[in-house]
Amino acid sequence: MDRQPTPAKIIQIPPSDSILLPGNAALRSDIVVPSDGAAPGLPQPRSLLVPRGIPLLPAGDVVPDAARFGRYRRIAARLPTYLADAVENPSWLLMFAFGRFIPIRRVYQRRHPRSQLGVLGDTLFQGIDLTTALERLEADGLAPNFALPKTVVDEVHDFTRRTPCFGNFDRKLAFYPEDHATAEVRFARPLLTGHYFESIERCQAVARIRRDPALQAVANAYLGPRAKFAATRLWWSFPTKPREADLHLASQDRFHFDLDDWQTLKFFFYLTTVDQDAGPHVFVRGSHRERAWRHQMTLLVGHPIADVITTHGADNLQVITGDSGFGFAEDPFGFHMGMSPRGTARLMLEIAFGVSAFSKRRFYGEQIILK
Ligand SMILES: [Fe+2]
Repeated sequence: MDRQPTPAKIIQIPPSDSILLPGNAALRSDIVVPSDGAAPGLPQPRSLLVPRGIPLLPAGDVVPDAARFGRYRRIAARLPTYLADAVENPSWLLMFAFGRFIPIRRVYQRRHPRSQLGVLGDTLFQGIDLTTALERLEADGLAPNFALPKTVVDEVHDFTRRTPCFGNFDRKLAFYPEDHATAEVRFARPLLTGHYFESIERCQAVARIRRDPALQAVANAYLGPRAKFAATRLWWSFPTKPREADLHLASQDRFHFDLDDWQTLKFFFYLTTVDQDAGPHVFVRGSHRERAWRHQMTLLVGHPIADVITTHGADNLQVITGDSGFGFAEDPFGFHMGMSPRGTARLMLEIAFGVSAFSKRRFYGEQIILK
């Protein structure tokens, strides 16, 4: 099953460019690179903060807003997944009901305090300052500069050359990433994502990243002594004209917060160079600890982009672009989203930690989808 991959395109971003967000919002790219940039020679962030106002643009080539999908249909689409979560772990219901409230999360965190950073062993992430990373995580909800060596990135690409992925979380839609265009014709539907699910257990590089002591040290310090692996996902996001339901399933182009556990920490790694056209990840700084009541007193985890930006301020929006290998840690209780790629496919790795018993079904990112 050996195949040759399509090499990732690298597009330089002119500093004067705008970044289009769905919902007709745009950000000027007044690029601010943080002072604690990645070590020389390692994958660098292209832009981390892109604030300075959000001029509203007329409707253009953007994905239709989530509002058209319908508030109740969005809940209905997730219901089978939520029911499966409750059956698998009944205490999940308690977290789902109350874990969305900031005061209750604070009480929980006081009862389960964080730990000191442990001693770091032999790590892939040379030169990283874990103390600073932890401070930024606590203050901002996001810490950059977990850069992977190129050899490790190459090893993951070698794996993706040999292994089919599954489109739109559906195991009936298996294809190789370089065959994306023909697979869309063959399956007669847009393929927005391609997940590898449990196949990644055959990838030694992913296993090495997952057991790296730097990630474990940060997770143990941030989540406390109960920190445990919650998920490992490897997936492509493809430029296409997606169906709205697939966008929703992939949580793309809409701000949401993850409500999987009382406390969660995720490490994300770009395994292709991600610029404004390759579906950058967007995070709202500080939204993991401060939230409007109307964003707590609701069953919905997703909220309109303009509403979130108005509430938290454009200066707190972090649009993350970076070289292949660039990684960052994030508290996913903060508002975040992946943008849909407009020009280049994105390969992303996620290593998630939580504090409760992990869900076997969700460990590789699998959801239950409505047909
Ligand atoms: Fe999420």
